[in-house]
Parts: sequence; structure tokens; C-alpha cells
Amino acid sequence: MNVLIVGSGGREHALAYSVAKSDKVDKIYCAPGNAGIAELAELVPIDSMEFEKLADFAQEKEIGLTIIGMDAPLVGGIVDVFEKRGLRVFGPRKNAAILEGSKVFSKNLMKKYQIPTAAYENFDSAEAALAYLETSNYPIVLKADGLALGKGALICNTKEEAKDGIKTLMLDKQFGSAGDKIVIEEFLIGREVSVLCYCDGTTILPMTSAQDHKRAKDNDEGLNTGGMGTFSPSPFYTKEVDAFCRKYIYQPSMDAMKAEGRDFVGIMFVGLILTKEGPKVLEYNARFGDPETQVVLPRMKNDIITVMEACIDGTLDKIDLQFEENACVCVVLASEGYPLEYEKGKVITGFENFKNKDGYYVFHAGTKKTEEGIVTNGGRVLGVTAKGSDLKQARKNAYAATEWISFENKYMRHDIGKAIDEAVDGIASN
Ligand code: AMP
Ligand code: GLY
Repeated sequence: MNVLIVGSGGREHALAYSVAKSDKVDKIYCAPGNAGIAELAELVPIDSMEFEKLADFAQEKEIGLTIIGMDAPLVGGIVDVFEKRGLRVFGPRKNAAILEGSKVFSKNLMKKYQIPTAAYENFDSAEAALAYLETSNYPIVLKADGLALGKGALICNTKEEAKDGIKTLMLDKQFGSAGDKIVIEEFLIGREVSVLCYCDGTTILPMTSAQDHKRAKDNDEGLNTGGMGTFSPSPFYTKEVDAFCRKYIYQPSMDAMKAEGRDFVGIMFVGLILTKEGPKVLEYNARFGDPETQVVLPRMKNDIITVMEACIDGTLDKIDLQFEENACVCVVLASEGYPLEYEKGKVITGFENFKNKDGYYVFHAGTKKTEEGIVTNGGRVLGVTAKGSDLKQARKNAYAATEWISFENKYMRHDIGKAIDEAVDGIASN
């Protein structure tokens, strides 16, 4: 079959890589894609928000499955447009993607169905939110209701910071209408874990765990980013934690969406925090994570097309998800300055070092092919990824491979997976 992937990041490159391994696939297209994806797929110059044009393309090229990588088209209803045309598409419909599209919706859902999460209040006026600050404890967390490129959560240590935060979100509208409403929630302490789950509306199958590193600088300092690196599996996500989450979080989330008439088909990404009182949900996303996908999919043994078709057909209960007994680490190479201002157009060299190296991957994010060669074209440029027999080995391999790539203004964190040492050395509570 022909497959169309919608998106242009490292996540979509990792998806393309997995799709290319499937015996069921003849040709891959990617809209709009990037320079790395171009090696596996034909790039299609259609924007991810042009749903009708994408559906026209899918009809014309007889696409058997379209996979939506990004949040904005899902929240905007791309799946509904494709389904109306009788096209097979992997991802939740608009009425289910709201699980990511509105924090107010997801918090209210968790409250209604008693899914563990931080205590919270919703606000649709800055006045009421400011008044609430007078009686709050600190730190406190403010969250824009809508999509904000992963940057809409503000952790405020003092009342003054929280006042500034409310101004930023609700009055200055830094994230536009995403800040019309906000959630103010309790600050939780614990290890964060991301679990991406396949869903068919009834059955939910969690994949192996991963941990992201959201802050720009080492030791979790600096601004929040889309993610600076990941590792999988998380040693903190023990069998006991997994059993708890399946019983009290994953299946109840799935059932809650069904009960609301919003059957969730696609990937439910559950962002967890492992607190002293047990795991709680920090957020849901309605799609694969970036850069979680880069460390999870290379370890998955199943044919990805078979699993995605089972989600669409409602037969996920027949699938036995299997992962390799190893580990994977992804270190993001970014442009110096990200997530604020940075320069683009720097020539990148060293890709040939990854040729024929089993277990090493260089997933492209912000790259572009020009006459000069492949150049930087975004904040997060590449996700250098490596497997290893265990997490320590995978981290060693990934950091060694970061040296194979050169470009001006190359920036990375040097402590991706540092938490692993604590787990291995026995400091962690598990
Ligand atoms: P979110 O967009 O909701 O995932 O939030 C982004 C990041 O902010 C999370 O990955 C956490 O690091 C942090 N965060 C969000 N909510 C809380 C919370 N209630 N307590 C502590 N940290 C949080
Ligand atoms: N890595 C976090 C996300 O994809 O939202």
C-alpha cells in the first residue's frame, strides 16, 4: 500500500523509518517532510493544515493509510475530513483530539472519572485568576487551555511570578486564543514518564516507557522546549507502576472518552509524574511524542502498519505488542539560542558516519536540502539516537554519535539520561 505521513519533525522521520520496514508498504509520501525523510519518502509540498488538499492528494495517489504526526491538524479535525472521503487515516477525530486540544476539557474529564491528576481550578477571566492567587500555596502551575507548542505550562514559585504568568497568558496573549482560558493547578514533585498508547476506541495498549528532557539546559535549567532528548525504557517505570497505570489511568481514560461519546482512536500519549502518592497524569497528548517516538519505535518489534490498522479496525485486542530487551537514547542537536532566537542555514556535515551502522539513527527535525547541502532550518535540528544493551551503553553510544555530526552553532544538553545513574546506583526509590 501507499502511505502518507503528515508532519516534518524528528517524530515523523522515526515514523517513516518504521513504516519503511513494513512489508505491506510500497511507497511512502510525507507532507511536508524534511531533508532526512526525503531519503525514505517522496516529499509533498502541502501544508499540514490544508486538509482538503491533503485528502485530494491521498485520493489521487491511492493512499491506503495516512498517519498524522502533529497535534494541530488533529485538533483541527483532519481525521474527520479524511473519513468523510472514505480515506483510511490514523489518529483521533476532532471530538477526541480535544483531549490534547483543551486542558480544561482533559482536567474536567479526569475529575469526573476520578483519574489521578493534580488538583486544579479553571479560569476564563484574568480577574478571577488573580483573585485566586491570594489564597494559593506556591509553587503553582499555570497552563494555557489550548495548544502552545509545548510551552504553555508555567511553573510559578511566587505570587508575583504567577501574576506575571497570568498577564502573559491571558492579557498579553502570548499564545493567542490558547490563553483565553487557563488551568491553575497544584505543583507536583516526582519523576516524569511518557507512555504512548495505541488505542482503538475500546482497547488501549501502552508501549514501552520513555522520559523526555524538556528544559533547554543541563540540570533541567533554562526555558521549556519541545524536548531536548529522551531515553527508553524509564527505570523508574517499574512493573508495579505499570500495573497501577493500566488499572487506574490508561483503561479509565479510554473508557471515559467512550462514555463521553468521543471514542479515542490513535495514540494517547499519557504524560505521567510519579509522586509519593502514586502516578498522576500531568497531561495527555493525542499523538506520538517528539522526541519520545525516536526512542520507542526503534525498539518495537511489531509491524507498525499492522498495529495502526488494528486501531482503525477495532481489533487491537488481537495484537501482542513486543519490544526489544534493550535501551535507546536520543540526544537532540539544536541551534544555539533555541527556544528563543537562533540562526538557520548552517551546513551540516557527517551524515555518512551513520551509514550501515546498526542501532544508530540520525533523525532529522529542522533540516533543509539546498545547493550547498543539507542545512539547519529550525531550533531542533537532529535527533541523534542509539541503541545499547542497557541504558548506560545506549547513552554512551548516542553521545559518541553526536560527535559524528558538525554544524556551526550546534548545541545539545550533556546530561540526557543522567537520571539513569541514580536508578542504577540505587538512589531511586524503585
Ligand atoms: P504540560 O504541557 O502540561 O506537560 O507541562 C509541561 C511540563 O511542565 C511538564 O512536563 C512538567 O515538567 C511541568 N509540569 C506541568 N504540570 C506540572 C505540575 N502540576 N507539577 C509540576 N510540574 C508540572
Ligand atoms: N515530548 C513531548 C511532546 O511531544 O509533547
